Amino acid sequence: MKSAPRINRRREEFPTLASGIHLLSHSLGPVPGAARESMLAYYEAWEHHTSEDAWAASWWEMSTRVGDRIAQLLGGVPGSVQVQPNASIALSSVASCFNFNETDRNKIVTSALDFPSMEYIWEAQGRLGANVEVVHTDDGITVRLEDILDAIDDTTGLVALSHVSFRSSYRLDVEAIVERAHKYGALVLLDVYQSAGALELRANDWEVDFLIGGTIKWLCGGPASGYLYVRPDLQKDLAPRLTGWVAHAAPFDFASAPMQYTDTVRRFAQGTPSIPALYSVLPGLQIIEEVGVKTIQAESQRRTKWMIEFALDKGWKINSPPNVEDRGASVMIYVEDGPGMVKKLAERKVFVDCRPSVGLRLSPHFFNTDEEVREAMGILAELM
Ligand SMILES: Cc1ncc(COP(=O)(O)O)c(C=O)c1O
Repeated sequence: MKSAPRINRRREEFPTLASGIHLLSHSLGPVPGAARESMLAYYEAWEHHTSEDAWAASWWEMSTRVGDRIAQLLGGVPGSVQVQPNASIALSSVASCFNFNETDRNKIVTSALDFPSMEYIWEAQGRLGANVEVVHTDDGITVRLEDILDAIDDTTGLVALSHVSFRSSYRLDVEAIVERAHKYGALVLLDVYQSAGALELRANDWEVDFLIGGTIKWLCGGPASGYLYVRPDLQKDLAPRLTGWVAHAAPFDFASAPMQYTDTVRRFAQGTPSIPALYSVLPGLQIIEEVGVKTIQAESQRRTKWMIEFALDKGWKINSPPNVEDRGASVMIYVEDGPGMVKKLAERKVFVDCRPSVGLRLSPHFFNTDEEVREAMGILAELM
């Protein structure tokens, strides 16, 4: 492994790291110790608020503040992110902006490597006239860029894909997809749950239309705060059917219908924001901002490259792309009995998980030392 740069891994701020080698950031990030104070601050505020003032005093603006910090991590401008209960709701909010029955532009392009919520949510839109095309995967690891580009035509309303696949860590070529989609008048949504906080994202430069994701994995936040990025100049053209009073221009007027959406990204909100979830994400965001996604990405690529070399050297089957540009921050290694191996590794205090057909998922994050990564791979070699 190339030698480690000097970075502050902030290990002492993550109590869970004392329990073993945590390589699970694709699933459940370790809790920062400061989350305890943050959750207590939430309780304190709740205990002392005796009227609706709670909203004016602290809670109403919290969604905006958290949204703006997430926007920065996504490479977006302030005012481009609305926090959501989870990524599936964020996606449903976008789906509810389309009137598939009223247009010939009713094709949704997705891929076989997306998270199941994608499939379920788009399948459900079939009932409203959406025509869903799922771009296939030949090897279960990658989707050919040409196949995605070929699927986009002038009947396409939206291209909705995982930026980095939860299954194989395959990473898309965003620019080529956005260019093709916009040329054909289609919008692009990326699920960045597996890339935000691990890779540098450039929402604004990419001119991507929507990003969805959440905080519990690479952002070290609690379960769960989802988010939805909407390209600023697109926001006012959209009127989500999945809505509620918080999306109204004057929510505290409690006005009767018709709905008057606010002009800001809050038009993609629904009801009362999940305030405890927002408190739970603040310490993780702070640490990620301070360590810096550029540093995190470089560390991830240095270590995943070494892990792949180690695995190939042992003759193991890697179910992630070998090239760093095509990969997210996880490495998938085939094992015959995934759940059995996860259990054996946990007994040796190495925490990973597995998924059907790809095998183990291992994800070093900035807080892991090189020694931990080497030790985990060494233990896996003993158990294989
Ligand atoms: C890529 C991806 N998208 C979406 C989700 C699900 O997000 P949520 O539970 O917030 O809907 C996950 C969770 O594992 C994921 O990995």
